[in-house]
Amino acid sequence: MNERILAFQAACDRGERIAVLTAYDYPMARLLDEAGVDVLLVGDSLGMVVLGYPDTTLVTMDEMLHHTRAVARGAQRPLILADLPSGSTETPELTVANSQRLIEAGAHAVKLEGGASHAAHIAALAAAGIPVMAHIGMQPQQVHVEGGYRIKGKTAEQSAALLADADAVEKAGAFGLLLELVVPAVAKEITDRARIPTIGIGSGADCDGQVLVLHDVIGLFPWFKPKFATQRADVASEIRRAATEFIRDVKARIH
Ligand code: KIV
Repeated sequence: MNERILAFQAACDRGERIAVLTAYDYPMARLLDEAGVDVLLVGDSLGMVVLGYPDTTLVTMDEMLHHTRAVARGAQRPLILADLPSGSTETPELTVANSQRLIEAGAHAVKLEGGASHAAHIAALAAAGIPVMAHIGMQPQQVHVEGGYRIKGKTAEQSAALLADADAVEKAGAFGLLLELVVPAVAKEITDRARIPTIGIGSGADCDGQVLVLHDVIGLFPWFKPKFATQRADVASEIRRAATEFIRDVKARIH
């Protein structure tokens, strides 16, 4: 088990809440490391907030590797968790091979979208010694299959499926569980039951940690603002202001 995973588990055992933010490049990784974030997620959300794709399904392994390397160059202390993108987990064998590439690029662990359906993939990763966090609830890579981004756990049937997913991935050897857009009461029930930490996004306050897309927190993607994310800075406005001043001064021959 690598030392970052051990530190992550020790913090959870001490009852500390885990702060996770996405990072996709060197300066952001370095700044967030300096700020003291516990985990940097090289999320496939980079497809939307960095690369301008309409959703995460178009993100490739090569893009994930490129951004994981940049984050690894910038971060010294946090656990670096890299997403397995759409199409990279077709079989357990392919999942292990692609995860190994992400680890070689500098990730300490990988994140995989899927619950009970991916227990064999998670077991294969655990057997290969690759730490894996399972991402259940709303799975953005399924956006076309599901016809949108929907909250999970609204019905008794959905809640039971989520609890079964959580049990299955824990049993298969996942070291953590990401819960996206899960009804808060169900996220709490999963958190109370699971022996591995839960990290929530849009799933209420009772998970063991919280993750957000950095751009939502610092206001760097002003064209879409998820309701559950508190924006704590307005970087987009600062960029527009600085660029506008620069353009004005160049045109006026001031510089
Ligand atoms: O890709 C990502 O950034 C994620 C978060 C939204 C949890 O998976």
